[in-house]
Amino acid sequence: MSTSRPTRCLITAGPTREFIDPVRFISNPSSGKMGYALAQAAHNRGWEVTLISGPVQIKEPEGPSCVHVISGQEMHDACHQHFQNCDVLIMTAAVTDMRSKMTFSQKQKKKDISWTLEFEQVVDILKSLSIRKKNQLMVGFAAETQNLEEYALRKLEEKDLDYIVANDVSEKGAGFESDHNHVHIYGKTKDAIQLGPSPKIKIAEGILDHIAKSVT
Ligand code: CTP
Repeated sequence: MSTSRPTRCLITAGPTREFIDPVRFISNPSSGKMGYALAQAAHNRGWEVTLISGPVQIKEPEGPSCVHVISGQEMHDACHQHFQNCDVLIMTAAVTDMRSKMTFSQKQKKKDISWTLEFEQVVDILKSLSIRKKNQLMVGFAAETQNLEEYALRKLEEKDLDYIVANDVSEKGAGFESDHNHVHIYGKTKDAIQLGPSPKIKIAEGILDHIAKSVT
């Protein structure tokens, strides 16, 4: 690890929202707790942390510099702005993959709603960053409800990552809104490690201990 300057770490957290009209959006139940715990733990070990967060209800960690965004496109733009100055990217954000093709600047009245939405895909931020990477260590998260290992390893490869942290979001007491988590970390050598079930701050420390070996 470089001794001349602190490790610079870019972390994303929380959900993103895709608005249909000013009062309706598509999103997911991510609380941001895992990403915020990682930001705190990385700061505590002397890393320089930038946290890019979707809308959450929890307190900003003390120390990291925080950027707040709402949509996937905003998170994409903020990530690309900060990516070239980071050594490690940890993408915990639960980016909402779909947005309505039709959006409205005014609230739609019930009587005018068609009740059928056509979706388009939101940009894959991690993939778009992997294309630009130089020496950055890339860490993704995989939120799954089945076939954890198979799907996580597929994402590791398709998104060209160094590590993927996989969790089963349907597991009781782990995942989205919980204060605890239970994860498997897969790397390129496929020798997975398991952390938890434990409080998210302990999981965060375990993840950083594991990936720190690969930070140059
Ligand atoms: N991710 C991203 N941009 C997206 C969707 C996901 O950067 N549009 C990132 C997430 O932050 C996470 C990783 O990709 O680090 C995997 O996200 P996940 O939601 O588990 O998977 P998806 O890529 O969305 O694939 P699927 O919905 O098919 O499981």
